[in-house]
Amino acid sequence: MSKEVKQGQDVQKLVRTLVEDLGHEKAELIPILQEINDELGYISDDAITELSQLMNIPTSHIYSVATFYRMLSTEPRGRHVLQFCESAPCHVAGGRLVWQKLQRVLGLENGETSPDDKWTLLTTSCLGVCGVGPVMIIDNDLYGNVTPEQVPDILSNYK
Ligand code: FES
Repeated sequence: MSKEVKQGQDVQKLVRTLVEDLGHEKAELIPILQEINDELGYISDDAITELSQLMNIPTSHIYSVATFYRMLSTEPRGRHVLQFCESAPCHVAGGRLVWQKLQRVLGLENGETSPDDKWTLLTTSCLGVCGVGPVMIIDNDLYGNVTPEQVPDILSNYK
């Protein structure tokens, strides 16, 4: 998944198109934010300002929604976002060793993005599939029963 960097007028155009297509109703805010996030890789200040004007919603409200949901980000992220479950059932199933291996292989701490913008590493709370812990999600792909040994192979699937 590669994301073209859009700025200024491109962002305005994107936001206008989404509001025209999806509607001005407040209920459409989250779907529109999701589309912006997918398109830009995050929700930029420009996009929030434009959305605020078009939907007549305060920027502070849009910002609080954009920072509340795990699938949305107000910071630029890497091309691939890896979310690792840090809740207790995954932890006791061996998650700690997998997490350490991920940090070592990627050279990243929680919340960091690699200098080449390829990876963002995040922890997340329970993903609801504790029976197959340790669990992680890369972009939209879910991996269960992950072992430290599998980490390099899994990561190599992402270019
Ligand atoms: S604790 Fe990891 S998926 Fe539930």
